[in-house]
Amino acid sequence: MHSSLGVAVIGVGMVGRAHAAGFRTAPTLYGPGLPDVRLVAVADADPALAGDAARRFGYARAETTWQAVAEADDIDVVSVAVANPLHREIVEGLLAAGKHVLCEKPLAPSVADAEAMVAAAAAADSIAAVGFTFRRSPAIAAVREQLASGALGSLVHLDAHYWCDYAVDPTGPMSWRYRGGPGSGALADIGSHLVDLVELLGGPLASVRGATMGTTITERAVPLGAVVGHAKAELSDVRQAVENEDTVSFSATYASGSTATVTASRAAFGHANSLGFSLFATDGAASFDLDRPGEVLVADRSTPAATSGFRTVPVGPAHPYLTGGLPMDFPGVGYGQNDLFSFQARALLEQVAGLENLPPCPPLSAGLHNLRVLRAVVESAHAHGREVALQPVPPHALATTS
Ligand SMILES: NC(=O)c1ccc[n+]([C@@H]2O[C@H](COP(=O)([O-])OP(=O)(O)OC[C@H]3O[C@@H](n4cnc5c(N)ncnc54)[C@H](O)[C@@H]3O)[C@@H](O)[C@H]2O)c1
Repeated sequence: MHSSLGVAVIGVGMVGRAHAAGFRTAPTLYGPGLPDVRLVAVADADPALAGDAARRFGYARAETTWQAVAEADDIDVVSVAVANPLHREIVEGLLAAGKHVLCEKPLAPSVADAEAMVAAAAAADSIAAVGFTFRRSPAIAAVREQLASGALGSLVHLDAHYWCDYAVDPTGPMSWRYRGGPGSGALADIGSHLVDLVELLGGPLASVRGATMGTTITERAVPLGAVVGHAKAELSDVRQAVENEDTVSFSATYASGSTATVTASRAAFGHANSLGFSLFATDGAASFDLDRPGEVLVADRSTPAATSGFRTVPVGPAHPYLTGGLPMDFPGVGYGQNDLFSFQARALLEQVAGLENLPPCPPLSAGLHNLRVLRAVVESAHAHGREVALQPVPPHALATTS
């Protein structure tokens, strides 16, 4: 048992700050039991960002290389929150240095990279996890519990979307998100979350088909300075081709025989961050949208015909994560996407400390499996929508959260 845990975050652009805040909040949630958590370092190639994040989130040091984190004896647990092509080198380096690691999604740019990362994790003694943060959504976890318990009957069909609009503006700067081959755009960036949820809710997929991908804005101006997340930036006169898709959609069949339709778009005008789904089962139905993160719509057979229909269920203490999960622990105070990073950080720290309160963070193999599904979608799109079969995996191999 560790007497204390030193934590660090590598990459503090957009999502890295949520990790930095999550580690800071995690010890305050769900009561006692965790070893003391030391906020040791944030590292970013941009020294100004690193210094700013260290100061704002109360970390003792700002570093400019991941190697400084790997070499530090006072760091035990590290979140990796940099661009996807950097994940493999950094995760492998941290695991070799004996650190416990949480890597952002998608695990890597390719299945081959992810396979190497899974092999590195198997050879290491430490915990290696992938950050499918939406598994920590109380609303989504609540719907999953309803479906898994049989309360809604068996799944018939799931329709899921992740609509964002960060690529709608043609004056948005070129960034790592627009580079890489087909499948590295909306599919990898937001579709990876969606595919994870599609399988979290309905079990493993057996095949995908009917995939289409499109790119609307085909070139972007290179920024003069650094870009953080989806933020605007001062632009140079140099323009570069967008190398990947703005929108992707596909159909899928589960191993169970039920079906799904999935759309991910980063050019969905008016939808900044809409992750949503509707599922239809033999004895009920449920819908969720991240625009209203604290509620789900449910219909089932529990109400008489005269008052049947969808009802809005406010997510509260009866649902996963919320009792003890917020600083003000009171029904109706609400939660948002940033809280999911606190729940995730707490789960990771509990795993490292050998506690078992929250469902553990999914292992790197879940990230590898996710990439195999994304690869099949790309293959289907290249083959004019042909059906592409997926290797069978048992439901527990997805290491779902409850
Ligand atoms: N779970 C989620 O909800 C969620 C949300 C957003 C992004 N992500 C994922 O998080 C990762 C980062 O995305 P982002 O939007 O925060 O990216 P970003 O571009 O905003 O930030 C990345 C940061 O990494 C820094 N960096 C670059 N090279 C580095 C290096 N060698 N060492 C240390 N720092 C380096 C950059 O300076 C930048 O500040 C991606 O894998 C993305 O898919 C996940």
